[in-house]
Parts: sequence; C-alpha cells; structure tokens
Amino acid sequence: MKAQSAALKLKLFEQVAQRIGEAVASGALPPGARLPSVRQMSDQEGVSVSTVLMAYMQLEAEGIIEARPQSGHYVRHAPRDICPEPQMSKPPQSAAPVSVGAAVAKIYEAARDPQIVPLGAAVASPELLPTRRLGRILAALARNEPEAGVSYDMPPGFLSLRQQIARRSFGWGCALSADELVTTCGASEAVQLSLRAVAKPGDTVAVESPAYYGTLQAIEALGLKALEIATHPRHGMELSALDAALKRHKVAAVLVVTNFSNPMGACMPEERKRELVSLLARRSIPLIEDDVYGDLHFGSARPKVAKAFDKQGTVLLCGSVSKTIAPGFRVGWIAPGRFRERVELLKFSSSMATPTFSQMAIAEFLRSGGFDRHLRMLRRHLLIQVGKMAAAVKQHFPEGTRATRPEGGSVLWVELPERVSALELQRRALQARIIIAPGPLFSASQRFENFIRLNCAQLWTPALESAVATVGRLAHQLA
Ligand SMILES: Cc1ncc(COP(=O)(O)O)c(C=O)c1O
Repeated sequence: MKAQSAALKLKLFEQVAQRIGEAVASGALPPGARLPSVRQMSDQEGVSVSTVLMAYMQLEAEGIIEARPQSGHYVRHAPRDICPEPQMSKPPQSAAPVSVGAAVAKIYEAARDPQIVPLGAAVASPELLPTRRLGRILAALARNEPEAGVSYDMPPGFLSLRQQIARRSFGWGCALSADELVTTCGASEAVQLSLRAVAKPGDTVAVESPAYYGTLQAIEALGLKALEIATHPRHGMELSALDAALKRHKVAAVLVVTNFSNPMGACMPEERKRELVSLLARRSIPLIEDDVYGDLHFGSARPKVAKAFDKQGTVLLCGSVSKTIAPGFRVGWIAPGRFRERVELLKFSSSMATPTFSQMAIAEFLRSGGFDRHLRMLRRHLLIQVGKMAAAVKQHFPEGTRATRPEGGSVLWVELPERVSALELQRRALQARIIIAPGPLFSASQRFENFIRLNCAQLWTPALESAVATVGRLAHQLA
C-alpha cells in the first residue's frame, strides 16, 4: 500500500479538537462540562474563531460534545452509543499446557491475502506510521555508513539506540541507563528471553485472562504451563486473585501487559502496579512486564511502567517500536534488571544480534526529533478509530453484545451473546475475506468461546465499516 504519511498531518482545527478530545478522555473535562465559548477558546488557543468552530463541529460529529441551542457546547453524558463492558474474567484455578500455535498461524496466513480486511492481527496501516521518513533515513544510512550496516551488532546492541531508549524511559517513570538495556528483535524476543531467563520447561507462569496469544505461543514453545488469573477489563490483573493463586501454586514468573493490555485494553492503575511489584518482590518472583502499548494512551499522561517501582531488580521490562513506529524493523528491548547477564547470553544464542540497519534507523528517528509529534498524531487517530469501531459494533452486532472501553492501544475486545461461536464466526468471516481474532486464542484453557478481538489500527474507510457490518450480520445469523 502506498504510504501517505503527509496526508496525516493534522490541520490546525484537528489539533484543537485533539487537545479537547484528550481533556475529555482524561476526565479533565468531565461529562456535562460546558466548553469555553467559541470566542474564549479562540483567545485561549490563539487560533481564529472559524478554526474553533470547525474543531467543535468535528467533536460533535464524533459524538464527544453536543451543541445546546442558545447555551453553548457541552461534553456529552454518554459520549457515544456504545455497548456495556464485559465483566471480570473467571479463569479455572489450575495451570495448563498451552496449544494455540496452529490457530494463530491461521490468522497470519490469511493476512497474507492483500484483499483481506485485516481486523485480526493488531497491526497499523502503513499510512499511520512514519513510513516515508524511515525510508529516507534508511537510504541515507545505506549511502553514508554501508559498512556499519552490514556488520553484526552484538549484544547488548546498538549504543545510540540504547541511549535514546534510556532517555525516553524518564517518561515511563524509571530512569534507565543505556547499560541496563539489551536490544532485541521486537518485544516478542524480549518476552521469550525473559521467560527463558527465569523459568525452565515444566514451570508455571501466571498470565492475564485473556492474554495476548503471542505470549501464550511463547509459553507453548518453551514447554511452560500457563496459570490464568482473573483480569478486570479496565484495571488489569486482579491482585487478590493473583495473591490467592500464588498461595496455591509454585509460580516461576508473572507476565503482565500493564498498559493497555492485549486484548482487553486494561491499564493497571499506578497504585496497583506498585502493589504488584511489592507482592512479587516479597516472594522473590520475577515480573515480566510487556509495555508495547504504553505510548498509545488516549488521555494526556503516559502511564508509568511497573518497573518504575522495582527496587530489587526483579522486573524484566520489555518493549518495542512495533506499535508506534515500524513492526517490520523488528526493534525491541529489554531492561532485565538483575537478570541482565543471563539475558545477554541468551540473546546471543537466540538470534546473535538485532539487525544493525534497523537499530541505526530507529536510533536516528528517535534522535532527530518528531517522535512525540508522530505519537500525538497516531494516538489521535487510534482514539477516533477505536471510538468508531465501538459505535459500529453497537450498531451492527446482536443485542446483548458487550465491548471494552480501552483508554489506549489499538484493539477492542468484544463479547458476543453466548450462543455465538467465535471460531465459527471466524470461519464465516474468512469466507467474506475478513479476518478477526477469535477469543479461544487468548486463553490456555480455550475459553472466551463467544469473544472476538477487533483491530482498530487500520484507517477507517467505508470498506472497513462495511466489513464490521458484515461481521455483525454473521454474528446475528449465529445468534
Ligand atoms: C502485548 C504484545 N506484546 C508483544 C507484541 C509483539 O511485539 P513485537 O512486534 O515487538 O515483537 C504484541 C503484538 O501484537 C503485543 O500485542
């Protein structure tokens, strides 16, 4: 697909709308609050009255605010007509071996068809990524430093990339140094190295329920068992359930996507992150934290990572640029705390090195500025697209459907009426050349049979909306 990142530059009115939208999402402008008058807002923002009017019109169209005759503009009480939320999950209390690999392969196989509507994997349209800029950086690197690019870059990885990541870690609440980081081939490798560093085949790892299927695949490949822990759709893993499970089971590690988890979109509040870290530190159980979505917050502040509260070095923090800059570059990292030496050795034996040009290009992209601007744009698009997806699900899916209300990230977790089999829905959707991710993929015990996950990171187009409507129609047939 041809990249069109230039088209994504936000116009002035969109920037104003974005700031207001963020204030609504963060609660700074609560439901029912009156917005400043058009003239006041124009003074406040230093833009023309017509720019403010256009921003207000856009927010009205998105269902975020409403105009009341002779009174002004207000934040809507029910911002959109959306489904109720799913409830806290109730997984079984035993650990189980995992077997999701074959079903996951089906999604990626289908995604190779260029005609397919990709509502399955959580991948962004190239139009939403800094595609052209990265191309220019790569071209310059190939021209100016061809030898550096074709050599191995042994663990711990490219220094200037580690320095850039370390700088950004201030924004995550922890001041990492470049020496504390090892670069990896995406967060997937970071999570696998973490698992290998702290667990051996046959061990049990506690995970969220539902959990990201890539994590379950890694657990499967390493011969580990998964212990699913009850998880709240907004606050993430339930700590009382985890505490109780740790009293019953010997657990080698706990693995959590603390910020905007996949598939629920849950964000663990700061206090709970602190509690999670101390709960595990008391028992000397390592925490593997996957933070690939932390930068994709819809509110104004980037949530901290649990690693920010790690005093003993027992949190292994994994991240990558896959959700924000370029999944194909395969650039990720790990801050392994006290497991650093072991992780470095494992990295060497796992893939020897992270691709050099990829690391150099991402380091240059981060160094030369513009990443925060790009993130603001991406978050704005995701906020709108998740909202549109939630509204489309409400409109087209059967009565009784529930859906999450993520405050960041790029996926929606949808609970269909009980009779609807997600696997059958996936089969029928595939015949209509639409790929969705069925619930059982996200569980070691193959639960969530009537759930699906929808990817919201593709540009919202009439074709995409019609695909969502088709999935809704198929769900009606199964209901
Ligand atoms: C929670 C989570 N972790 C890791 C990954 C994979 O990241 P990467 O492409 O950096 O390996 C994904 C991709 O969907 C994800 O959702």
